Amino acid sequence: MPIRPMTEADLPSVLALQNTLGFQKWNEKQFISELRASYALCLVDEEAGTFAGYAIFHLMGSDSELLTIAVDPKFQRKGIASSLLHEGLDKLNRENGDHCFLEVRQGNNHARSLYEKHGFLAYSQRERYYDDGETAILYKW
Ligand SMILES: CC(C)(COP(=O)(O)OP(=O)(O)OC[C@H]1O[C@@H](n2cnc3c(N)ncnc32)[C@H](O)[C@@H]1OP(=O)(O)O)[C@@H](O)C(=O)NCCC(=O)NCCS
Repeated sequence: MPIRPMTEADLPSVLALQNTLGFQKWNEKQFISELRASYALCLVDEEAGTFAGYAIFHLMGSDSELLTIAVDPKFQRKGIASSLLHEGLDKLNRENGDHCFLEVRQGNNHARSLYEKHGFLAYSQRERYYDDGETAILYKW
């Protein structure tokens, strides 16, 4: 699974995937500010030269966070999200970070299963956190 840093040239693919999946509504400026933030780790996975997925972490020691992760439906269930997670958590370990937080929609069972498989534990929840009233589950690794 070839994982590399995300660049501005990836943003059309990143935005197209985000819009196809419809799970998040970041605009281009938000992605650009992530690319420029010194603490952000922005990763892309390519399969045989084809953009397949991305993940963005904030690596800030004990306040590290997984902000977003997504895989093109054509490439899902092949371990790509797992590889992106490993890459981020490995870097966190190398930088002596000890925690990674994230929040996810209560009903997003695929993502929750991914996180639990990789050692994230649900520790709290926020009722009606999302615009449509869905609860957020908070996970910690
Ligand atoms: C969640 C998501 C990133 C998983 O990507 P992926 O590359 O398919 O995940 P992996 O192949 O690494 O799967 C790892 C584990 O996640 C879980 N999982 C992933 N897809 C699943 C599915 N369709 N059904 C059930 N479990 C699933 C399983 O536990 C899986 O392990 P297994 O294959 O050994 O059973 C992908 O489904 C996606 O992009 N979803 C839409 C965006 C999203 O919801 N992002 C998370 C919120 S920010």
